[in-house]
Amino acid sequence: MSQKKMNELDQLREVAKLGGGEKRIKSQHAKGKLTARERVTLLVDEGSFDEIDMFVKHRSSDFGLEKQKYLGDGVITGFARINDRPIAIFSQDFTVFGGSLSEAHAEKINKIMDMALKIGVPVIGLNDSGGARIQEGVVSLGGYADLFLKNTLASGTIPQISAILGPCAGGAVYSPAITDFIFMVNNTSHMFVTGPNVVKTVTHEEVTFDELGGAETHSTKSGVAHFAFESEIEVLQNIRKLVDYIPLNWKDKPQEKDFDFSQNLSIPSLDTIIPDNPNKPYDMNEVVNLLLDGGEFLEVHKNYAENIIVGFGRIGGMSIGIVANQPAVLAGVLDINASVKGARFIRFCDAFNIPLVVLEDVPGFLPGTEQEWGGIIKHGAKLLFAFSEATVPKITVITRKAYGGAYDVMNSKHIRADFNFAWPSAEIAVMGPKGAVEIIFKKEIDSAEDTEAKLEEKISEFTEKFANPYIAAERGYVDDIIKPSETKLKLINALQLLKTKVDSNPNKKHCNIPL
Ligand code: HXC
Repeated sequence: MSQKKMNELDQLREVAKLGGGEKRIKSQHAKGKLTARERVTLLVDEGSFDEIDMFVKHRSSDFGLEKQKYLGDGVITGFARINDRPIAIFSQDFTVFGGSLSEAHAEKINKIMDMALKIGVPVIGLNDSGGARIQEGVVSLGGYADLFLKNTLASGTIPQISAILGPCAGGAVYSPAITDFIFMVNNTSHMFVTGPNVVKTVTHEEVTFDELGGAETHSTKSGVAHFAFESEIEVLQNIRKLVDYIPLNWKDKPQEKDFDFSQNLSIPSLDTIIPDNPNKPYDMNEVVNLLLDGGEFLEVHKNYAENIIVGFGRIGGMSIGIVANQPAVLAGVLDINASVKGARFIRFCDAFNIPLVVLEDVPGFLPGTEQEWGGIIKHGAKLLFAFSEATVPKITVITRKAYGGAYDVMNSKHIRADFNFAWPSAEIAVMGPKGAVEIIFKKEIDSAEDTEAKLEEKISEFTEKFANPYIAAERGYVDDIIKPSETKLKLINALQLLKTKVDSNPNKKHCNIPL
């Protein structure tokens, strides 16, 4: 072959790599953002990226577009490896028409998604886009719709991870919203259905981009974002961590890491973590960190609905999903946001064969008009539904309170949990001692000479009788009462045993989870 042809290819590659040109790359950097290619390079294993469709161009000739063609058409797509495991990736290039989605741009993303589905690998989308390519009109809307459909069909089949690293507005938000996890970066990423100007016209509210749809808003208030970090580099590093915990597809198992089983697995400090006074909080994060290998925990929705903790870690080298009530926030009560947060996480783990380890200390569901009118019934039902339908290995450790409906909901034996352990500090009852005696001994207390003393007497009688794990253990509702220090060993043994677990749900078109 002539050298000329080789040089021509080299030149075209160089042109493609420049995207919208030096000036726009500078402007991208000036905004504190990396370019689409820099992001891919930082995310994947060195030298592992195989790009496809570098030479794709848009086919539009409206509004002078025929004179503005860029190789790749504003999105870089291909396949790469993260910690030596395959992934599919797209990275929108804001320097080309603001990363906006044209027909050709959409086709490129759809193409790698089709391949990812065929070969069973996760798709990672790095989003930085002005939305639908305005000049292409309905054709670009069609491109988005094709993508929404693909995201939906891929859901539960291959993991889908989205990073929002710039604007993401209008209907465009619904592609990441359908994916499993959304990462955002403080200050430079925004997601909203309508921007501040439209908001002002319609509702007369004055709101900044950040307040309306910045990373903090979505990781604390709306729950749309699962992760928020200070820099793009942190976002990319944490996507790598996430990929390490999850399997490549729904038929695959998560990777197991080496673990030294000969080490002493007793954790004596757990024996003193529960305060003597049952109404005193403690930090469940400490329990989580002590139980997980190396204390390494990738917390999901860290700053949203903090009364429940969810995230990924390893126990005995095995990847697991943690769902834990947090008594240090709202006493660990279940409310609307905590229920939705927990349910979504459980369903991800169940879809992708990640065993669930539940740490339970829950006083019940949060009472009040705000919660009732907001639909705590249907939202709480999501959590119950998610635990009930999950067929992955499911283990519960009741550390302290397991009251009322929340006892049933939090992965009880009755809804197919495999192993339920309780610490001696567990209190398993229909409700807390005070509430209970005020109902069942109301007349006796009211007619007593010293009502306060009678109330106290009844509370201690009830506490003595019910606020312990032994009645549940008598029935087999908990499989064993264990010392906190023994927990890690028990969890490892249970997880090992459950590796061959087989369970399924009745055949159906699909379930109808309360929405
Ligand atoms: C075509 C676009 C574009 C778009 C930006 N550009 N958005 N081109 N279609 N949607 C181009 C600009 O013309 C400009 O080109 C370059 O990208 C950078 O844009 P700037 O405005 O200079 O950048 P910045 O100041 O950072 O502002 C970014 C922005 C703004 C906030 C995203 O560009 C913007 O508001 N764009 C329109 C957003 C929008 O309304 N999109 C449609 C949403 S509805 P040059 O040549 O100057 O570099 C939607 C529907 C989805 O997406 C449908 C799903 C059902």
